[in-house]
Order: sequence, then structure tokens, then C-alpha cells
Amino acid sequence: MVGKITRAYEREVKEGDVKMASPKFGMSILFFFLCISFCSSTDQSFQQCFSSHLPPSNITYDVIFTQNSSQYSSILQSSIRNLRFSNASKPRYLVTPYNEDHIQATIICSKEHHLQVRVRSGGHDYEGLSYISDVPFIVIDLFHIRSVMVDIKNEYAWVGAGATLGELYYSISAKSNVHGFPAGSCPTVGVGGHISGGGFGTIFRKYGLAADNVIDAKMVDVNGNVLDRKSMGEDLFWAIRGGGGASFGVIFSWKLKLVRVPPTVTVFKTVKSLEQGATKLVQKWQNIAYKFHHDLFVHAVIQVTNPNSNQNPTVQVSFDCLFLGTTERLLSSIQRSFPELGVTQENCTEMSWIQSVLYFAGYSIAESADVLLNRTTQSTQPFKAKSDYVKEAIPKTGLEGLFKMVVEEETSVLILTPYGGRMKQIKSSATPFPYRSEYLYGIQYLISWDVAEETGKRIGWMRRLYKYMEPYVSTAPRAAYLNYRDLDLGRNSYPNTSYVESSEWGLKYFNHNFNRLVRVKTLADPHNFFWNEQSIPVLRLE
Ligand code: FDA
Repeated sequence: MVGKITRAYEREVKEGDVKMASPKFGMSILFFFLCISFCSSTDQSFQQCFSSHLPPSNITYDVIFTQNSSQYSSILQSSIRNLRFSNASKPRYLVTPYNEDHIQATIICSKEHHLQVRVRSGGHDYEGLSYISDVPFIVIDLFHIRSVMVDIKNEYAWVGAGATLGELYYSISAKSNVHGFPAGSCPTVGVGGHISGGGFGTIFRKYGLAADNVIDAKMVDVNGNVLDRKSMGEDLFWAIRGGGGASFGVIFSWKLKLVRVPPTVTVFKTVKSLEQGATKLVQKWQNIAYKFHHDLFVHAVIQVTNPNSNQNPTVQVSFDCLFLGTTERLLSSIQRSFPELGVTQENCTEMSWIQSVLYFAGYSIAESADVLLNRTTQSTQPFKAKSDYVKEAIPKTGLEGLFKMVVEEETSVLILTPYGGRMKQIKSSATPFPYRSEYLYGIQYLISWDVAEETGKRIGWMRRLYKYMEPYVSTAPRAAYLNYRDLDLGRNSYPNTSYVESSEWGLKYFNHNFNRLVRVKTLADPHNFFWNEQSIPVLRLE
């Protein structure tokens, strides 16, 4: 088999933009038009298929919602996080499984009915790939599968893929104030998409990505089989920890290694405008933040200030810190390494780790941790985002040009996240996420807006900014982060997928790990059933 795959690579690269294995639903556009007049009988047939693949005792009601169902719209809208896609094409069915039997039956019946599958956990995909598609499709929304079982004695947790990060953090903190998990800052993000795409947050310099801390996983594969780490094998287990789960199957549970956090952590926030010397501070930050002690995380958030006042808008940079320790230890470190920031005892607040989760999520630390259980608190707007990685500090002139562009758009936000620490120690091939030791920091560019008419202008600005940054960021490939999905980087053709075409975006997300992902995909899903605009391509085997 290995020899077959190697030969297939050589053929694809040699032939260039060749046609690849097509999804089983190749005739589905024609099928879609034919089926419009037979909708209800098709619905019945899907439901019958679904019931027939379940053990007799399993529930079948309140699992499948057709477009005629009164709950269809509210379920569909419930976790659309980017309003740019709120009016996009709608799924034929929403399936809300309660257990893995429901997922197995759904996969089998979707194949039988030539329907594409989109899997949604928290719905935060930047390009809406978990709930929109241009071909007939269903959405499997995992929000019922979100139990969290925490075992403090053995320092692990089993978490359902439909749980949010907030639910995970809450459940850990309910059992221990000295354990945590290294994942993202937004509590409504789903663990299904987040962990399968990497996942970083305020303690990743100490513990690595969320995906680096997965011990086991359970998923339903393309044949409707339930697999765990042992039965899926190490290659597939590697692929779903950073390569994006949607290319490989439906992950319904992760076993996570809990990490130790001290009973007291410290935060500070220091905000400086350009007039107060922010450019110099960013220059220095670029050269030191990635070298800080593993316990120290200081990211830089660049925004426009005074956008609505009489004063001219300017740029401000907020340096936000989480330190895994007390103020005393933090000050001795930051005053020595970054005295220009002027951090004093008055700027620092000590708290528990779970309070720091509230703090970075924008809540008051006096709030009860219960707010982390709210799955719908984040405000939503249309937005566009992109990402970059920096290997060499951007010179002053480069930063000045960047700030000039930022000031043009008052809703723009740039988040600069320092690497180094544990990220430097983990091999770049350990998981599909490759950007480890050589990278100083990552950048996320974001812009949001209120009304649909502004979409073109705002996205146009984002693309100009991305072009402007080209000389200052990583090249060959220009690195990008899968969890900040960006369809500008390229998309698969439908129904056929080409290795060469997919390499456009695949190398940017995964660099040298892309080819291994292609090999795993070819074995795990040879007919490319789990296709999406940026799914891993399948090699044509003969
Ligand atoms: P969603 O359900 O949309 O899924 C995303 C992708 O994963 C889709 O392709 C989907 O099909 C697939 N997928 C989802 N569940 C799956 C499953 N169970 N099995 C197989 N495939 C599955 N990132 C970060 O690293 N650190 C951060 O701090 C943040 N913060 C943040 C804040 C906000 C407001 C947003 C909108 C996003 C972030 N992110 C982030 C990015 C986030 O990690 C990324 O969007 C994740 O993919 C979201 O996962 P969800 O499950 O919420 O999304």
C-alpha cells in the first residue's frame, strides 16, 4: 500500500492539475433537482434508513429536523458565529445525535442518500464550513454530546466533542483549582473543531497546543465504524490532532491530559498609543516575548482608538499578560526583561486560573464561573480573518506602514501571539501543526462590520493588508493557522479534488506535514466522502 501511495504522489505531481478521486455523491446536483418534488418521500426514506440502522432501544425522535420542522431555524442559527453566512445555503436535514449510534446511522444513510455531511461542534469556523455547502448536505450538530468526565486522581478528562471550552474549563475547575487545560480563550468555541485544528491559548507557552495534550479520541469513520486510538492506529490519531477532523470522520469524544496550574496566577494589561511610544514597545516585544519563561505569556493586541471621538483616530497596543505564579515572581521577571513597559505592582491582579479564564474571556473576575456554561454569550457580527507567522522581527518602517493601514479601519484588530517556550520543544512533525521552533509569533488579522453592504469594502481592506504584510512574514510557505480558516488561500474543486490544487492552501496550513495528511486521508477515506472546500485531498490509487 505504501508503494502504491508513493507512486500515486509521483503521478499527481507529474501530471499537475489532474482529477482526483471523486466523492461518492458525484451525481448529487442532478439528484437535488430531481428530488425537490419528492421531498417528503425522500425525508421519510432518510428517516427510515436512520431508524433501521439503530439498535431497537435507541431513541429516534428529536434527532432529525427537516426544513419543515418548527425547530429547524433556531437549531441552525444557534451556533452560527460569523453572520457573514447567516443567509447561506441551508442543510437538507439537521441531525442532532445523542450518542454514537446516531452518528453511525447518519453517516451510513447520508452515503445512501448522496448527501454531503458537515459536522458542527461549536460553529466557530471562520468560513462557516461546519454549516454551509453548495451541494445538497446535512449538518450533524453535536451539541447534545457534551458531557465532561474529569478524573483528577489520574489527571485526565473525557469530553464530548460538542462541549464548549467554557464547559470544559468549568468542569475541571469544579473539581480542582490546580488543574487546567491549554486551549483557547473564547469559552463558546467547540472542542470538536478547536482541538482537531490545533488550539492555543494563554498557557500554550507552558504546555503546547490543545492537540498536543490529547491522549485518546473516539470517532465514527466513513464506514460507520466507531474507532478509538487503538483501532484507528497512530497515523489517523496523528491526523485528527491538528489536521482538521472534518476530513476524516466525526470525532465524538476526546480524552485530554489535564495540566497543573498554580493556585495563584497573575494578570496585567498595559495599553500604549502610538503617541505614547507603542511602536518602540512592539519592536522590543517582538524580540523578547518568545524568549520569556514558559510561565509568562504576553500577547499584543493592536486596535484603533478614539474612532468615534473628536480626536484623530490613532493606534493603541494592549499588552495583556497571564503569568503562572504570583505578582512578586512576575515583577522580578518583567521589570528585568521589559522595563520599558513600566509594569508595577498596581498593574497586577492575582487570581485563580479559572478567574483568569473569565478575565481573558472579557468577564469580571467577580462573576461566577457559571457564565462559562453559557453557549451563546459572544456577540456575533459578519467578520473576515487571516493569519500569518513571523520568523524575523518586523522593522520599524514595516510596523509604521502597518499601523497606517490599521487606522484606516476602525473595527480592525490584530492579535500578536508569542511562540517559544514549550512550542519550541515539540517537534514540528509531532502533530500536523508544524509552526514550532523557528517562529517568533503568530498574527491574527480581524475585521468586523455591521451591514452586508460593507462586506466588499472590509474584505478588500483585509486583502490589501495581507498583501502589505507579505515582505515581513514567513515565506515558502507563507504559514497560516487552520483554525483561522481562510478560503482566500484556496479551495478544492467539486466534485474532484486535485493534490496540486490543494497544495496551495495545504502547505500553508501544514507545511511538510501535508503529504502525511494526504497519505492518511487516502487510506481512511479513499472515496473522499468527507469532502469540503479545504478537506485533505485523496490520491488516486490504481
Ligand atoms: P465548528 O463547529 O465550526 O467546526 C470547525 C471545523 O471543524 C469545521 O470544519 C467542522 O466541520 C470541523 N469539526 C467540528 N467538530 C468536529 C467533529 N466533532 N469531528 C470532526 N470535525 C469537526 N482558536 C484558537 O486556537 N485559540 C483561540 O483563542 C480562539 N478563539 C476564538 C474566538 C472566536 C470568537 C472564534 C470565532 C474563533 C476562535 N478560535 C480560536 C478559532 C477556533 O479554534 C476555530 O474556529 C475552531 O475550528 C472552532 O471549533 P468549533 O467546534 O467551534 O467550530
